[in-house]
Amino acid sequence: MESLINKMSENRAIALGVSGASGMIYAVRSIKFLLQNNYNVELVASKSAIMVWQSENLGNIPANPRQQEQFWREQCQENGGKLRCHQWSDIGANIASGSFRTLGMVVIPCSMSTVAKIAQGLSSDLLERAADVHLKEGRKLIIVPRETPFSLIHLRNLTALAEAGARIVPAIPAWYHQPLTIEDLVDFVIVRVFDQLDIDLDIIKRWEGRVVGAKGEDEHE
Ligand SMILES: Cc1cc2nc3c(=O)[nH]c(=O)nc-3n(C[C@H](O)[C@H](O)[C@H](O)COP(=O)(O)O)c2cc1C
Repeated sequence: MESLINKMSENRAIALGVSGASGMIYAVRSIKFLLQNNYNVELVASKSAIMVWQSENLGNIPANPRQQEQFWREQCQENGGKLRCHQWSDIGANIASGSFRTLGMVVIPCSMSTVAKIAQGLSSDLLERAADVHLKEGRKLIIVPRETPFSLIHLRNLTALAEAGARIVPAIPAWYHQPLTIEDLVDFVIVRVFDQLDIDLDIIKRWEGRVVGAKGEDEHE
């Protein structure tokens, strides 16, 4: 019994889906912070993600899982933690089965195509299948959509996912933490994403309320 409890408490696996939406930096920063915090990252990048990467970063994501692991590690400059990459077409991978336990799944960034396919339960590649598994198992599925503007179809598909239990956390940064760099903007979104999994990445200063008596506070009252 004790060893069973130990085994359950050891589960630190997180499924990470990277689809073909703009904003590959969101994926890179997510991998970096998860590895730094000793989570086991089970990563699948869609076929289109590889093309979007080429457009944004002028390089190639290798299809071979071992080479891909090396690739992501170089991108996020992180050697620690456990990272396992799966080929987009490998529907026999661990995360394709409900019997493989995870803490949840994050799709970041999430294209409207992937939103639509998950909402319809298509499971036509590993990313979609893993997302489908998280919904059917009642596990946490966090969708980070990136598109603008949204069409009515996009909004309906996002609504369908929210109704099915997914959390929708758009890649929309805030400004009140006074970002100075692109990473500051990206990290704000990442923190809000992993908050949904009760993972505190502790990389940005959180809002603690206005300072009472701050200069100019009552100027307009
Ligand atoms: C450079 C580039 C940027 C793209 N950005 C987005 C985006 O931000 N959001 C989106 O929904 N689709 C975007 N697309 C289109 C998707 O990649 C395309 O719909 C693709 O079929 C999505 O496949 P996937 O969802 O399986 O990854 C982009 C495509 C390219 C080439």
